[in-house]
This record gives sequence, C-alpha cells and structure tokens, in this order.
Amino acid sequence: MPSFSVSVPGKTILFGEHAVVYGYPAIAVPLNSIKLNIKISARPTDSDIQIINKNRGENLLLKDLNPEHIYKTAIDTIQNALHVGKLPALQIGISSTIPIVSGLGSSAAFAVCLTKAISGFLGFKLNNEQINEIAYKIEIYQHGSPSGIDNTVISYNKPLYFKKGFPPSFLEIKSPITLIIADTGIHANTKETVADVKKNMQINPEMFKILLEEIGNLADYAKINLENGDLETLGKLMSENQSLLQKLGVSNDELDHLVDVALRYGALGAKLCGSGKGGNIVAIVENLNAESIKSALLKNGATNCFITKISVNCKEL
Ligand code: MEV
Repeated sequence: MPSFSVSVPGKTILFGEHAVVYGYPAIAVPLNSIKLNIKISARPTDSDIQIINKNRGENLLLKDLNPEHIYKTAIDTIQNALHVGKLPALQIGISSTIPIVSGLGSSAAFAVCLTKAISGFLGFKLNNEQINEIAYKIEIYQHGSPSGIDNTVISYNKPLYFKKGFPPSFLEIKSPITLIIADTGIHANTKETVADVKKNMQINPEMFKILLEEIGNLADYAKINLENGDLETLGKLMSENQSLLQKLGVSNDELDHLVDVALRYGALGAKLCGSGKGGNIVAIVENLNAESIKSALLKNGATNCFITKISVNCKEL
C-alpha cells in the first residue's frame, strides 16, 4: 500500500476568542505559512501502530500509551468514527512548523490532519464537514469544551465567521490583509485559560456577560469591515478587542508589551490571539510598514515573528 501524506495550516483568531465558547460570534483565518504534516505508511512486518513525532523526538508504540494519551484518544476516536474495527499496523510520522501551545491551532491541526491522513490512507473520501466533525471530537478530549472554531477553520482552510452550534460561514475578504504574528515565547494552556475565564465568570456574571457580548458585537462589526475592505476600522476593532480581553483577565504583561510595540511602530491594530496568558499576538498592518514592525517586535522581546497575507480570494499569499 503506498504511503499517504497530508498537510494542514495553523490558524489565528482575528476577533472573538473566549466569547466564542459562550455562543458569541468570532472570526478566524487559516495560516498556510505554518503547517502540520502527517505521513502514514503500512508496517507489514509488525502488528502495532508506531508514532514518530520529529518535533518532540518521540518514537512510540500505541500499545505502550496510557488510555488518556492524546495519540491514543485521537486514534480511537477516528477508528470509532470510521467504524473500521481495529486499524491495521501503521507508521504515523508527524512533523510541524506550527508552534505548540501558542494560540496558533497546533492541537486542532493535529486533530484535523490525523483524521484526513488515516481516513485517506484507508481509502475513505470524507468531505470537510465529516473531517471537521471527527476532529472536533478529538479536540473535546484535549480541551474539555472547545467552541470548535479552531478545527473548523483548519478543516475548511478558509476565512471563517463562526458561531458555536451553527453551520460555518465563510468570508469574502475584499482587500488583502497583511498580518504580523509575534510570539511571547510563553506556552499557554487553552484548557486552563478557558477554565479560569469560567471561574471568574461565576464570581462576576453580570460584568462578564457584558464583556463577552461586546466582544461578540466587535466580531459582527469586523465581519462587515472585512467584507468592505476597511482595514483602518478593522485595526481599531482589533485593539478594542484586546482591551476587552484584558478585562477578561486573559492578557499578560508580555502580550500587552508586544501589542504596544506593534502599535507604536505603526500597526493598525493588535491583540492577543487564541487563549492568551502567553502565546502570540496578531497585528493588522499596512504592507509598507510590515518589515519595520516585524523587526521592532523581534528587537523588543518577540521570540519569533512572521508576516503573512490573507488575499481577496480567501487564500493566504
Ligand atoms: C482557542 O484558540 C480559542 C478559545 O476561544 C477557545 C475555544 O474557542 O475553544 C480560547
């Protein structure tokens, strides 16, 4: 049987993280300049599944993993969803340029990519909706109660307006958007941050409801401006989103600092992206300023930084 390879993008949330968990709208775009790749091959002389993850220096056999291990829960979920009984002996090779626990969708990319890779290797022709459904189940094992925005934007690989429980809606972006993504270098655990927001919400439900509603309103307003191509307004909305995220308690000094640097050097707007308390910021910038903002971020604490463009026909350039 020939081997089978799949690559999927990372993602960034432009508007609405956290509020999206509570049913408010959010906007995310795929990031095709960072990728997770999985290659599946048969292991004819062996009976178990072997997982080799180059980034983590792992070479594991499925039978040695505890039942809670992400590789085990992911493979079991795919196996059950495909109704294939026990999978044949496979070698699963994983490599990735998506930084882990940094808000850029590494766990959802793994869930989507593994679903595509195993189903494709076995000859299933699943559509994006079916892939997404399985990937979401895998995400539930990792994150408890994810909104589903990460696996959806990665499964479809299109700019997405998302509301939990509703079919995905894809955006026609009018003008190309230049984004800068900059890393604080601090790992941030989505499950814990989402749980912290939930705890704080129980302490002050009225205030949190207002904050989440305001974040949702910004995402709705941003959708109109993305479709109209009004980048200046989008920048302002992004910075407003950041102050609401600060009030939710999910920013930190390092994220605030990178947001300040981006704005000081001319970004149209900037905010944390993903669950916060570490990870990356995203900034909307004018093309002309992109390189100078990137070098300012790298000189002022960003551990990594890249420029990426989302084009009119919904693809990253
Ligand atoms: C994580 O990328 C985004 C959060 O809104 C969690 C979720 O949507 O499941 C923080």
